[in-house]
Amino acid sequence: MKESGIANEWGVLAEGQPLTPQQVEEKARHYLAQMTLDEKIHQMSGDKSLLMGGIQQYLAYNASPIHAGENTRLGIPGVRFSDGPRGVVMYHSTCFPVSMGRGASWDPELEERVGDAIGVEVRTQGANLFAGVCINLLRHPAWGRAQETYGEDPFHLGEMGAALVRGVQRHVMACVKHYALNSLENMRHKVDVQVDERTLHEIYLPHFKRCIEEGAAAVMSAYNKVNGVYCGHNPHLLRDILKGEWGFQGFVMSDFLWGIYDAAAAIEGGLDMEMPFSLHYRAHLKKLVKKGAVPESWIDDAVLRILRQKLRFAGVGEPGRYTKEAVCSPEHIALARQAAVRCMVLLKNDRLPGAGAPLLPLNPAQVRKLAVIGALANQPNIGDHGSSRVRPPHVVTPLEGIFDAVEPETEILYNNGKDPLSAAAAARGANAVVVVVGFTSRDEGEFESLKREGGDRRSLTLHPADETLILTVTEANPRTVVVLMGGSAVVTDNWRQQVPSILMAWYPGMEGGHALADILFGRENPSAKLPCAFPRADTQLPTFSPEATNICYDLLHGYRLMDRNGEEAAFPFGFGLSYTSFTLSNLQLEKDRLGPEDVLRASLDVTNTGDRPGSEVIQLYFGYAQSKIERSPKELKGFQRIHLLPGETKRVEIAVPVEHLSYYNAERHAWTVEAGTCRVYMGNSSAWKDLLSAEFTIESNM
Ligand code: BGC
Repeated sequence: MKESGIANEWGVLAEGQPLTPQQVEEKARHYLAQMTLDEKIHQMSGDKSLLMGGIQQYLAYNASPIHAGENTRLGIPGVRFSDGPRGVVMYHSTCFPVSMGRGASWDPELEERVGDAIGVEVRTQGANLFAGVCINLLRHPAWGRAQETYGEDPFHLGEMGAALVRGVQRHVMACVKHYALNSLENMRHKVDVQVDERTLHEIYLPHFKRCIEEGAAAVMSAYNKVNGVYCGHNPHLLRDILKGEWGFQGFVMSDFLWGIYDAAAAIEGGLDMEMPFSLHYRAHLKKLVKKGAVPESWIDDAVLRILRQKLRFAGVGEPGRYTKEAVCSPEHIALARQAAVRCMVLLKNDRLPGAGAPLLPLNPAQVRKLAVIGALANQPNIGDHGSSRVRPPHVVTPLEGIFDAVEPETEILYNNGKDPLSAAAAARGANAVVVVVGFTSRDEGEFESLKREGGDRRSLTLHPADETLILTVTEANPRTVVVLMGGSAVVTDNWRQQVPSILMAWYPGMEGGHALADILFGRENPSAKLPCAFPRADTQLPTFSPEATNICYDLLHGYRLMDRNGEEAAFPFGFGLSYTSFTLSNLQLEKDRLGPEDVLRASLDVTNTGDRPGSEVIQLYFGYAQSKIERSPKELKGFQRIHLLPGETKRVEIAVPVEHLSYYNAERHAWTVEAGTCRVYMGNSSAWKDLLSAEFTIESNM
């Protein structure tokens, strides 16, 4: 690996000295003016042909960056693409928990640090663009690639995605994907998603806009169609909204290979770069320009967008950090462990009959025989095997993490759980039992149609054998903790009542086993909150079919839909327990009458009423019961993580511009603030019972 950075290649700048926006503009135009039409078109796609690039990708998928638009005559470096999001897909990079787990941390500051580490590893390995900012909204938890995104709520997604962009872009360009409405896997190349303008603007796009505001350099179009038009050809998404309404200055690249089908449609739609090979654009754009079917100004606009971002990042960087040792450094491994601790959601932790305290945390001094059960306890399980696959030098399994954590006198009885009766026998003699069950890359992930692996989940419940195992083992020994692995919600209704403690571990990355043991034995206090509701049954969710070729996405899904239908999730969005307890009190609004341009400030006291330090995530929702149109009964508009010592009280204030409470008025093509009475809800989960509330009035429309 060589020390790299486009700064050195351009030969114009030192790292750490970015060009001003004016210099970027001047230089971009200067380079454009010197280019032939062929050179311009060359900027606009991957450098390799389908044959050459295809062979390279087939032999070593993701082993090295994919180059696009290098121009040696003018000394213009190419874009060098690498992927994520749970780390860098090249070489033996650090493997963090999957994004859905990081979403559960509700911790943008931590996510920014993860982004910083990823940015360093991307750049050290010769790439200058990281395409792992995946922020598709989780409309339904069966989506095969759910693990690559942060959750179901647009506000939360936007904050987490923006944090990753901030961290990564200290070092390299970030690409936000897949724009837009890509949340069905098996039929992603075919499905046509129908959506109305209001739903599009309010639910499926705000998080993309948020990342654009954060300065993301690039956007990747999705494979699917939206309202009948492929996203890579879609002028409404790309030209009207992204580049028009939001004023995006960066470039749009296609998703790989089947991202566009027709050069004229793609350039007209606003697609600037075809990836990963030179295919349609190289074969057709010149002819289209020559015969007047495509104005050269469209080509110039695309090339300028690409050049601007290359130049903008030319001087970006932190000299000295891009050394070979930075990849999977001890600091990054420690960060992966910290992120894994913060991602694990304690869903249930009951007292057993006759016991003084809940089952967790286990006391290492008292557990002398611990049964660890389940095949997943003893296997590296870090997520899908598609384009997001990371290959870290090691993965700590749950069993290894537990081995490392227990005292020398503790006996670990491992049983793979294949035979529930033998597992029950192991459990019977133990002080406590940890059962690890869930999903793997075979059950969910990017769809590998040839291997029939991955893809959308067929069921939200566990495999029947896992459910039998849980019930048999719990009956043999009620002191049982169930640890779940997977990329999104699990329906637990067949066994939840019988089990005292449940911990959602997601795919927790290379240090997952250590993090799990940290939590099981109370060295760390869980603080994560669900980034998607765990329903009681599929019937609480919108319809979903892995075979769908046509589907309508409407305004309500997840907690919004359950609220509207008066239903409760098994575990609500925003919910997660701690080993300590918190009380919330004294909700106050700075003002209870506000104009549409004001900022609403809500605050409350949070007290740690338990006997351990702990962190809590305070969430702020709004409801518009008196609205003239249908609105979600509540929607998230703010959150904040705080840390409290035992007995400590802190006041938490969250500020929200009233403008953010607007709805999208499709007839006027405008965001509209409605005058009237609204309610603010503040608490530590989205469940009504966990929220304090206060009324306020918006005095006029806007
Ligand atoms: C995925 C993208 C990914 C690309 C390159 C595609 O199959 O949909 O998310 O960035 O491959 O690896």
